[in-house]
Amino acid sequence: MGWFEERGGLAGTVAVVTGGAGGLGEAVVSDLDANGVHVAVVDIDAEAVETLRGRLSDAIVHHGDARDPDTLTRLFDAADERWGRLDTLVNVVGGTFRAAFTETTPKGWNAVLRTNLLHVLHACSLAVPRMRAGGRGGSIVNLTTIEAHRAAPGYAVYSAAKAAVEQFARTLAVEVAPDGIRVNNVAPDYSPTPRLLKISGDGTSGEDGVGVTIPMGRAGTPSDVSNCVVFLASALSSYITGTTVHPDGGTFASSGWFNWPGSGWSTRPPKDFTVR
Ligand SMILES: NC(=O)c1ccc[n+]([C@@H]2O[C@H](COP(=O)([O-])OP(=O)(O)OC[C@H]3O[C@@H](n4cnc5c(N)ncnc54)[C@H](O)[C@@H]3O)[C@@H](O)[C@H]2O)c1
Repeated sequence: MGWFEERGGLAGTVAVVTGGAGGLGEAVVSDLDANGVHVAVVDIDAEAVETLRGRLSDAIVHHGDARDPDTLTRLFDAADERWGRLDTLVNVVGGTFRAAFTETTPKGWNAVLRTNLLHVLHACSLAVPRMRAGGRGGSIVNLTTIEAHRAAPGYAVYSAAKAAVEQFARTLAVEVAPDGIRVNNVAPDYSPTPRLLKISGDGTSGEDGVGVTIPMGRAGTPSDVSNCVVFLASALSSYITGTTVHPDGGTFASSGWFNWPGSGWSTRPPKDFTVR
């Protein structure tokens, strides 16, 4: 075993991942599995569930809606029965639609809050007692977003829900710190997945304009995000809790500074910039 594996201490541990069969969740599950973690997944996409079942014979892969507390309970129970321990919870499920706030309705707000905030509360309420009972501590990781840290026109309720998750994680981290349970967030910027490209609906390839808006000049990849989750799940982050890791190529840091072609960094467009 190498230094990394030994310090990381992930082999033989157990993780529950919501939304782990597709998009960023699939990368998280693959990377946890590659580090010897037993993984229990629930995902709403039946086809992705079948594919994951075929690929990871050791995993528990349920087809279901993570917004439903009973579905979550069944997943945690199945992991208890199979492995008898819980070390990591990764809340990947999240999502939204694009609309100006004034065009949205309470039905839409409710859907976005259930997906992005309430499922996290339910999953954490199932994970903490199990981690406590195990007596080995644990790690909870929520996928939030850069939109929890800045305004997000067209995504007001999503942004509010993810900011709520960030604040919830801070408080929960403090409450469960004496049990050795850590709670952190991973807040990506733009990391194109098939569903994200559908939501943004602008018909772009996913890389257009990132040289201007993302300091590192490229979009994020699923592994940029899953690397952070693996780190936070592992003992390499054993003294890190109540905080957020930002795999965003520097977008949060740059906060409104853009790298304009030909003229470089400025908060304002160059003189010859034409508005289409
Ligand atoms: N992709 C990005 O650029 C990006 C950026 C910032 C934040 N995020 C956040 O990261 C997370 C994952 O994003 P993604 O782009 O991979 O999303 P995605 O829509 O591809 O979803 C990931 C997986 O979750 C599953 N899923 C969705 N709703 C579910 C539900 N109710 N129950 C069970 N499974 C469900 C999907 O089927 C999919 O397999 C989300 O919380 C999102 O808000 C993504």
